[in-house]
Amino acid sequence: MKEKFGWGLIGYGGMGNYHFEKLSKRDDIEIIGEYDINPERNKIAESKGLHAFSSAEELLNDERIDFITIATPNEFHKDYAIRAMQAGKGVISEKPVTMSSEELDEMIKCSERTGRLFTVHQNRRWDPCYLTVKKLYDENKLGRIFRIEHRVHGSRGVPGDWRNRQPGGGMVYDWGVHLLDQMLMLMGEHKIVSVYATLTHITNDEVDDGFTALFKFDNGVEWIIEISTNNFIELPLWYVLGENGSAQIDDWDGNGKICMVTDWENKDAVPVVAGVGLTKTMAPRTDDSIDEYPTEPAKGDWTEYYDNIVDVLQGKATQLITHAQQRRLVKLIETVFKSAELNETIKEVF
Ligand SMILES: NC(=O)c1ccc[n+]([C@@H]2O[C@H](COP(=O)([O-])OP(=O)(O)OC[C@H]3O[C@@H](n4cnc5c(N)ncnc54)[C@H](O)[C@@H]3O)[C@@H](O)[C@H]2O)c1
Repeated sequence: MKEKFGWGLIGYGGMGNYHFEKLSKRDDIEIIGEYDINPERNKIAESKGLHAFSSAEELLNDERIDFITIATPNEFHKDYAIRAMQAGKGVISEKPVTMSSEELDEMIKCSERTGRLFTVHQNRRWDPCYLTVKKLYDENKLGRIFRIEHRVHGSRGVPGDWRNRQPGGGMVYDWGVHLLDQMLMLMGEHKIVSVYATLTHITNDEVDDGFTALFKFDNGVEWIIEISTNNFIELPLWYVLGENGSAQIDDWDGNGKICMVTDWENKDAVPVVAGVGLTKTMAPRTDDSIDEYPTEPAKGDWTEYYDNIVDVLQGKATQLITHAQQRRLVKLIETVFKSAELNETIKEVF
């Protein structure tokens, strides 16, 4: 059995370099080289000891290469993936795997026909903040969870690169794809019964610069996912509501707080002044009926991603990020766009 697998990279930009640096540390992967359409990027690659091929064809014809990672702008993932599989290489595509379910089906068929690995880099399945929320959910820590809100807020608009234009630009593809994937993973077998989404175009008319979407699941859980690039005050990354407690996660490492009710019977309060009125419904809880403490951040080990790739190449495992998961995710992205375009709740079940 082969112990070391040759790796090639197409697209040596920010993310391409991230893969290169991580894979350089592994004993079971041999870095063969990269190809980038931009000669400047190839020069930088060579200066770091990464061989630059003169064309994608040359890279794909190199027999030492067993698999490639595609880290080009989104619009090029499909063609490179198909060419690579036809040349006998395994393929990891950066996210989003591609932009439509028709294109994805072509890629999956090519993988089935050629028998080559074809998967996508959904690295945020290992984000500690996501794993912290997943643990709260799986362990039913807050009582029955009925709502999860997940937001990523920035204030710099859409970067001025390929993300700024069609095809393949915009925040649904750039960030939405991660948050939607995390939601599908966390909810497991549960089906989505409705989707309502709106896109924003505050700083960009051509592509969405953010979106908000509400998803309802067949077990009654509601999710809000929001990406924004025009928020100068950020809301917490995660806000999770259960019958007996709430959690807020403030950073990528999973730090935040949990507030649990300790005495549900003690729910009536004397009215308090709120604005120009009185309320007892919204009176804050007192310390004798609530317990507040920090979250226990979960750890994520992303190296499992490429461990699995090597295992798949050795025929010892099946790929972690499956074709069925990719299909469901791309279908969900299409539904977000459809709902926003029609300004309607889409009630397809999937
Ligand atoms: N998984 C993640 O966390 C994550 C993070 C950032 C980006 N990405 C994904 O990685 C991919 C690249 O994003 P990036 O931020 O590195 O972009 P980037 O602009 O920094 O890099 C893209 C590189 O591709 C090259 N390129 C453009 N067209 C090409 C072509 N036809 N053939 C070969 N090379 C070409 C460019 O010259 C550039 O060097 C995108 O799909 C993006 O969605 C993933």
